[in-house]
Amino acid sequence: MLVHIKDIIRESQEGGYAVGAFNVHNLESVLGVAQAAVRAKSPAIIQVSSGAIKYMGIKPITHIVSTVAKNIATFVPIALHLDHGKTFDAVFECIKSGFSSVHIDASYLPLDENISLTKSVVETAHRQGVWVQGEVGSMIGGHGKISGEIKNIPIAKLEDVVRFVKETGVDTIAAAIGTAHGVYDNEDILIDLLRDIKRKTKIPFVLHGGSGVNPDKIRAAIKEGVDIINIGSDIKIAFTSTLKKICAENPDETDPRNLLSPTIKAVEDAVVKQMELFGSAGRVNIDENMQT
Ligand code: G3H
Ligand code: ZN
Repeated sequence: MLVHIKDIIRESQEGGYAVGAFNVHNLESVLGVAQAAVRAKSPAIIQVSSGAIKYMGIKPITHIVSTVAKNIATFVPIALHLDHGKTFDAVFECIKSGFSSVHIDASYLPLDENISLTKSVVETAHRQGVWVQGEVGSMIGGHGKISGEIKNIPIAKLEDVVRFVKETGVDTIAAAIGTAHGVYDNEDILIDLLRDIKRKTKIPFVLHGGSGVNPDKIRAAIKEGVDIINIGSDIKIAFTSTLKKICAENPDETDPRNLLSPTIKAVEDAVVKQMELFGSAGRVNIDENMQT
């Protein structure tokens, strides 16, 4: 079922677990995440980047996610979120289309300008009852890249994050605390910084760059109160590695369904694994009779 993100986060905070925000790129990845949510009995956030919106179109992706949430994930909560919207227009398009949450990522701007743009998004979004995620300290890396070590991962300053949250009124906060977009050997989570941010801001924290992070670090971060964990690269990798393998093994296949069905299952398996790690698996009560 499609719900507002605030309903998912209220439950996760009560239960002391984190919820995955999974990047989708096509119908197959939406189906994979929804099937994972059903199989794991877990809430899920389905998120799209501006790139994914450009690829699929805002109306198709909004309708695909809401109809899959309604008809496939009927008894598990799914929320739709914009990931890394860089401009007011990009965010506004999603607010108008019925997203319950948007990320304005103006972390590429100087802090004062980041605060001012984010604040104007908050004013508009809140009039429509939409949650806003802000970001301090830019995330680096390449989505989906798997390449050894990444140099100079930026780290946000605690005082900047605290000031940003206070002055913008965002509902959730993302800050660079040691992870990167993609899968790299040297990704880390600065637990002390995370603890201080949580203690001083008291709003839900979003960990970006979740793919490739050591599971023990993820568990420690959840203990310190990480609320949402973004997973993008793991989904791309599950989809494309499976597709390449199936195509190589079946060069004469002409039915797209036979080539694409295994990708749905691959995304589902990757997402279930994350839901189990985040502690969100098994949190939704689904009566056996409800499923038939
Ligand atoms: O915004 C998306 C995420 O931060 C994804 O990061 O590709 O490392 O999982 P990831
Ligand atoms: Zn991100």
